[in-house]
Amino acid sequence: MKITVLVDNYITKRDFIAEHGFSLLIETDDKKILFDTGQGYALKNNLDVLKINPHGIDFIVLSHGHDDHTGGLKFFIEEKVFPRITAHPDVVLPKYKVESGKKENIGLKYSLGVFHPEFFKGPRALDEKIVFSGEVPKVNQWELEETKYFREVNEQLEKDPFTDDVSLFVTTDKGLVVLTGCAHSGIINIIQYGLEVTHSDHLRGIIGGMHLKNASQKRIEKTVSILKELNPEFITVSHCTGLEAGVVFKNVLKDKVIFTSVGMWFSI
Ligand SMILES: [Fe+2]
Ligand SMILES: [Fe+2]
Repeated sequence: MKITVLVDNYITKRDFIAEHGFSLLIETDDKKILFDTGQGYALKNNLDVLKINPHGIDFIVLSHGHDDHTGGLKFFIEEKVFPRITAHPDVVLPKYKVESGKKENIGLKYSLGVFHPEFFKGPRALDEKIVFSGEVPKVNQWELEETKYFREVNEQLEKDPFTDDVSLFVTTDKGLVVLTGCAHSGIINIIQYGLEVTHSDHLRGIIGGMHLKNASQKRIEKTVSILKELNPEFITVSHCTGLEAGVVFKNVLKDKVIFTSVGMWFSI
């Protein structure tokens, strides 16, 4: 299986475009799956540079409703290419960021109807080796520090419980590989759930954002010490993990830590 970073906050090669967003292309023997679509400025350009035909994409999985993961759907609508979408049903709820009294709409901006979405609340096998997580149980409360994210339910604003935050669990011969969007459920919660759902006894790697940009030092240190114990082969620093957390990861986990940028790919 080949996993390519299509959209990320970082670029290190010519011609690609970086943005605050994330998207991965997963290529199996017979399928091309897009995991998230970025914010919408970079996807078309980066697909062109990598010579990937959007018509060849079998389906799209949305990690959650935030616009830095769903904004790239605009490109598919403009191209009139509508791969089926798989997501948690709460992906469509209005989402806001409230900071210093300012309310910013950061939710899904496009209607999903044309993509004939399939919504699942719980785990679901998408392929022989790929499991859609569904809602991740928020077991470790220490991972849920964030308070600026809200959602709207029946015209009421409430703290976003991130029911729609899903990951992909890929089983390989060498253990579980977890693909995350923003990991709003908490990266340790996600890993623990992934090991349980796939009956895996070893975490092989993580590719994706961990949303530790504004995390406390205490939380970053606790996260890295658990990751060290889990002893994976690789961990990426991508999208919203933040460079501060990335530096802590690098110092502790050394060569296991990979800073991603657009165009980088993994063979798993
Ligand atoms: Fe994000
Ligand atoms: Fe997010």
